[in-house]
Amino acid sequence: MTPKRQRIAELLAMAPGVEVTAKGWVRTKRGNKNISFIALNDGSTINNIQIVCDHSGNFSEELLKSITTGACLAVTGQLVESQGSGQKVEILAKNIELYGTADPEKYPLQKKGHSMEFLREIAHLRPRTNTFGAVLRIRHAMAFAIHKFFNDKGFCYLHTPLITASDAEGAGAMFQVTTLDIENTPRNEEGKIDYTQDFFGRHTSLTVSGQLEGELGAMALGNIYTFGPTFRAENSNTPRHLAEFWMIEPEMAFYEIEDNMDLAEEFIKYLVQYALDNCADDLQFLNNMFDKELIDRLKSVIGTEFVRLTYTEGIKILEASGEKFEYPVHWGVDLQSEHERYLVEKHFKKPVILTDYPKDIKAFYMKQNDDGKTVRAMDVLFPKIGEIIGGSERESSYEKLTKRIEELGMDTTNLWWYIDTRRFGTAPHSGFGLGFERLLLFVTGMQNIRDVIPFPRTPKSADF
Ligand code: 4AD
Ligand code: MG
Repeated sequence: MTPKRQRIAELLAMAPGVEVTAKGWVRTKRGNKNISFIALNDGSTINNIQIVCDHSGNFSEELLKSITTGACLAVTGQLVESQGSGQKVEILAKNIELYGTADPEKYPLQKKGHSMEFLREIAHLRPRTNTFGAVLRIRHAMAFAIHKFFNDKGFCYLHTPLITASDAEGAGAMFQVTTLDIENTPRNEEGKIDYTQDFFGRHTSLTVSGQLEGELGAMALGNIYTFGPTFRAENSNTPRHLAEFWMIEPEMAFYEIEDNMDLAEEFIKYLVQYALDNCADDLQFLNNMFDKELIDRLKSVIGTEFVRLTYTEGIKILEASGEKFEYPVHWGVDLQSEHERYLVEKHFKKPVILTDYPKDIKAFYMKQNDDGKTVRAMDVLFPKIGEIIGGSERESSYEKLTKRIEELGMDTTNLWWYIDTRRFGTAPHSGFGLGFERLLLFVTGMQNIRDVIPFPRTPKSADF
């Protein structure tokens, strides 16, 4: 049995002079007839440990030949001060065990410098690249920081269901969940599909948001957050949309819109600061390789106060901009990301929180303003991304909420439980949703949302 392995992240920080064992995958091998230098990576850090393998040692020809890019090894040897530049310590190999070869003729990552598009086609192997290793470690750190942020504030993590019978959120098209035989669906007397025979005895779908159930939690526990997968069946083939993405949705009793904005701003700044403090090596790598302004951009967001502006004022700025937008802009339109990015990147040059949108382009549950035209919505708009957060103060009045539901002609039979929160002990409350992958686009500087989630689901693509 090989000795216990130490993670390369730890080995690189250790003082030389001890025997150690590293296990990982070969990134590169170079050298000559007498000596090999192997860069080994185990995913614990972006950095490799250098293995020095003196061929006069106890290594067979065959073993040395099999050590190629992608092969998996266990290496035991002395941790010594490195002779070369670029690393403080390296391992003088005494014993090498080969776990798995990677035929250089066939291993898809044999060479460096593959395009992101190509790597998406080999999503099963791309975590082994430096770039995806960095992105996935940052993704983990952000998930952890999200729980830490809310836990430290006394929020309760509420698990809302993925399968839902309510289709009233209005956030997007839904994926149906059924066990009916779709080749031969049971029909009722009117000739319509008889969902009473379906698994749940009714029509069900995958959730587009945990908010409505989140509100039930807030009306009991005070402050809650959800953090889970979310599904939208729109045919949006953009660098910012996924069919399956993760969303964080805090919901707070007794918060008005200003409190909601304060929390959203504090939350994002906390996460960006956490990344700078805890993911320095990975961010530096991404900064060097892809986006020379990444770290500066992250720092600038922390150091700046977000602009707060109403939709109506935002429209005025866009109309006066003289800019030629693909989608024309006037009061009442839903903003496109070109409009959002104009405000953020060109006009203000910092994040913007836009509030008080026309009620007709926002969801039924948003608190109605006295003007009869707008609602207490808030979208947080970010450089490079556009909308990163969507939220609002919620309509807490039973009368106003039910009237709006009626106006919109919505079916209330599946929403009675939601409306009950306004019948029994209603309270002012607010919340928002942060798209986890949109956050990661910002933090990593990646250009395409498919490259910040391990297994992207998009129209016509769910292979892995
Ligand atoms: O603005 P949205 O649709 O808001 C809601 O779902 C509310 N229920 C949130 C709440 O108030 N609790 O979505 C919230 C965020 C967006 O701002 C965006 O960051 C992200 O979710 N998002 C997506 N991310 C990736 N792919 C998609 N298709 C997304 N749709 C929304
Ligand atoms: Mg939105």
